[in-house]
Amino acid sequence: MSEFHDLGEISLNQDDQAWGNLGYWRDETEYSAACRALALLLGDAAELDANSIVMDAGFGCGDQLLLWRDHYKVAQIFGINFSKSQTEFAKARLQKSDPGPGQNPAPSALQYGDATDPRAWAFEYPGGKPDRVVALDCAYHFPGRTDFWKLSARYLQSEGKVTVTDFMLAKDHQPSSLNHRLLLWMLTRSQIPAGNMVTEEKYIVQMQQAGFEHINILDISERVMPGFGKWWRGYRDGPGGQQMRWRSRLKYGVTARFLDWAWRKNVLRYCLISGTKP
Ligand SMILES: C[S@@+](CC[C@H](N)C(=O)[O-])C[C@H]1O[C@@H](n2cnc3c(N)ncnc32)[C@H](O)[C@@H]1O
Repeated sequence: MSEFHDLGEISLNQDDQAWGNLGYWRDETEYSAACRALALLLGDAAELDANSIVMDAGFGCGDQLLLWRDHYKVAQIFGINFSKSQTEFAKARLQKSDPGPGQNPAPSALQYGDATDPRAWAFEYPGGKPDRVVALDCAYHFPGRTDFWKLSARYLQSEGKVTVTDFMLAKDHQPSSLNHRLLLWMLTRSQIPAGNMVTEEKYIVQMQQAGFEHINILDISERVMPGFGKWWRGYRDGPGGQQMRWRSRLKYGVTARFLDWAWRKNVLRYCLISGTKP
């Protein structure tokens, strides 16, 4: 059976990369570079380093795992992804790729599963529980994100940190507006549970209720939401886009229009969020 999260995004990438996020667009003109920039923003905010034991929820095709391993040189990586094809692909890449001269690859354990399901978190954790939980551009897809906060808080070491990039409702968004009805329609098409779209105030309360403190929210919408569409329209009309299957062209075209609309109408905000377990 085909999966919603599959290997389709590979066709947007360059140089054997396989990112699948919305990107962080400063001067980047290529999709892979913008995706890597968003991952670096998250990795820096998570303060990943050689002591980090990382749990990555929604690791896509594995590019970010290579970044945690080879750029931040983290100690250990665990990962959960609700895509069988991506999990197999990422496992193979991690096994095949060389972390660099004189480097020992960080041990990793990856499995298919839902990051809101306690069974998916049941690893052996031989070096101890994670002190970092990260979710790059995917927490809005989780079925009931509050369960993800609870599991993160349960499995994190004391003083551990959860860091995600995620959508939330814009401050002045009106739940009774036509824009809201359009948003609900778009969310259904994109497999995003409507209940995950909450205001910043509610987002903070949900994290606090799960046990997090020192919650930090940085609005990065301006560098994420308009950038994807601008890039896509150029790519679509070039050789890469012309060779793409019509279904993929439709999918990315709809994503681009949705992001442009949600940005222009100030319906959604895209943020970098972190919180610490006491
Ligand atoms: C937009 S993609 C981002 C992929 C990757 N983080 C990246 O930046 O390239 C969303 C990812 O979240 C994963 N995902 C969606 N729902 C999930 C869930 N309930 N538990 C774990 N992973 C999930 C998908 O399989 C996919 O890999």
